[in-house]
Amino acid sequence: MSIFLDSSRLEEIEQFHRMGIIRGVTTNPTIMLKEGVTGGMDGIRRRAREIAEMVAPFPVSVEVTTNDASGMIDQAKAFSDLAENIVVKVTIHGPQGELENLEVIHALETVHNIRVNVTAMMSAQQCFLAAMAGATYVSIFGGRVNNMGYDSSNEIARLRNVLEGANLKAEIIVGSTREVLNVIEWLDAGAHIVTVIPDILRGMLVHPYSKETVQMFLRDGAAFEKMLHE
Ligand code: E4P
Repeated sequence: MSIFLDSSRLEEIEQFHRMGIIRGVTTNPTIMLKEGVTGGMDGIRRRAREIAEMVAPFPVSVEVTTNDASGMIDQAKAFSDLAENIVVKVTIHGPQGELENLEVIHALETVHNIRVNVTAMMSAQQCFLAAMAGATYVSIFGGRVNNMGYDSSNEIARLRNVLEGANLKAEIIVGSTREVLNVIEWLDAGAHIVTVIPDILRGMLVHPYSKETVQMFLRDGAAFEKMLHE
């Protein structure tokens, strides 16, 4: 069980990596755009390489920006050439439910020797098919599942059970964190990995009562410092 960071911000990744609490990084085009990555496809590749170097040998997921089959394969090759720890993210199907993505995923894993993280999935059944196609990681968006009125923990538990029953190698990444509680609840349900946004990770770490306790220790500790000068 482990935690990845869902971010493309170098300073934030470095901060949490230096603490030793993350075991990988996930990105997507929306995160990169929102977080100010510029320079077109070169900009994505540059940022991906910087993150990959920073956290190596931990995996860094970078997503293709097209749904054209040969375009996905070309981008996947270009991303995976950047560093050994790059994993390529491909969505489970196209924007209108086009089906060629699984064929691409299968080819990337079995012909091109590229590790794939299949993304944008909302159900155990989608993840199972992605795992059957050979995906290294299957990403289910727990927060969005909950928002649709389904129970993400139940979906994760059933998925873990099915993957083990079918002896599939895929690891479950649960993303789309919305609350601090999600991290432990999804790991407890059977996720191999939860990919966490920085704010949630900070929320896990800092507790108001811990702050108050630390303040008490420092206040009382200072009394001892003062004694030395009395
Ligand atoms: C996961 O890999 C995705 O990058 C991400 O968690 C999606 O989260 P959202 O639902 O907050 O967009």
